[in-house]
Amino acid sequence: MQYRQLGASSLNVSEISLGSWRTFGTAIEAETAERCLRQAFDCGINFFDTANMYGKGAAEQVLGRLLKAYRRDDYVLATKLYFPMSETDRGLSRAQVLKQIDASLKRLGVDHVDLYQCHRHDGETPLKETMEALTEIVRAGKVRYVGFSEWPAAEIKRARAIDGVVPFVSSQPRYSMLYRKNERRIFPLCREQGIGQIVWSPLAQGILTGKYKPGAAAPPGSRGERRSLGRFFRPRVLQAVEKLHPIARDLSLTLPQLALAWVLRGEKISSAIIGATRPDQIEMNCGASGVNLEPAVLQRIDEVLDQVMRR
Ligand SMILES: NC(=O)c1ccc[n+]([C@@H]2O[C@H](COP(=O)([O-])OP(=O)(O)OC[C@H]3O[C@@H](n4cnc5c(N)ncnc54)[C@H](OP(=O)(O)O)[C@@H]3O)[C@@H](O)[C@H]2O)c1
Repeated sequence: MQYRQLGASSLNVSEISLGSWRTFGTAIEAETAERCLRQAFDCGINFFDTANMYGKGAAEQVLGRLLKAYRRDDYVLATKLYFPMSETDRGLSRAQVLKQIDASLKRLGVDHVDLYQCHRHDGETPLKETMEALTEIVRAGKVRYVGFSEWPAAEIKRARAIDGVVPFVSSQPRYSMLYRKNERRIFPLCREQGIGQIVWSPLAQGILTGKYKPGAAAPPGSRGERRSLGRFFRPRVLQAVEKLHPIARDLSLTLPQLALAWVLRGEKISSAIIGATRPDQIEMNCGASGVNLEPAVLQRIDEVLDQVMRR
């Protein structure tokens, strides 16, 4: 496993990290979660992402319980707030920031998280109030660094212009071979501001593993069998993804490894946050760390996906 610095922070994160959306505390049993976590550490993953709203606290609870078996200094832990936790608990007001960080720390069973992320921008709370509250919890030692997920460029700029508050060091955008929209505005802006990218759904929820076949039912036990995988789950896209198999084979890679190596190409991305329901998925996916893709390979990929990717 190779490691990269997260933006202008002192955090060194594994190129492949493990998330817990739709897995820990929800789709997978505690025993499977434990095996996944052990596999992650065995592969050199040191970075774990969760959120208060994943399973309404259940993901944090399971992850926190399992992390007790590991030394706190041996992993980087990230969580998030914003989405509703109850009828009245939502958003990024000072009261919510103070309340939600304490609730997350309690569920995770730790005294601090390394990265606290605003899951979305909150148009109903003055930005200054949010940034000052984030600064307060950093100064209280509950959080080391702060970040955001899917904020508009204008709000990222406004946050940076506020005096006397901690700067964002991390952005969590959706990004994969199929979904490239953030390349245009968000990546260059963040680079200018010392903000690293930790990207979600780098395998498009499993579509880029090639296991979903055009016109066929989703494989038993897969996420696609349990729930909607969104707009990429249609024959035209799945047919294009099929054409990536020979490109991966020519490089002696599996398709998930090719998709993750693509995300990690160059220096733009600090970490690709994968999800997993089985330890062998983690082992395979970590094989993407350190793989270099030549320009000719990138071009072949672009030709195959040209008509189906979003950019
Ligand atoms: N900030 C945000 O708004 C946001 C939104 C979504 C996610 N996230 C973060 O990003 C993380 C990753 O998102 P994601 O789970 O959508 O990522 P993903 O890596 O694109 O998809 C993960 C799913 O693909 C399948 N899979 C993974 N590796 C595989 C392999 N080698 N072979 C076959 N199937 C494989 C597994 O599902 P099955 O085995 O069930 O098919 C796995 O749960 C989340 O856990 C969360 O931390 C953030």
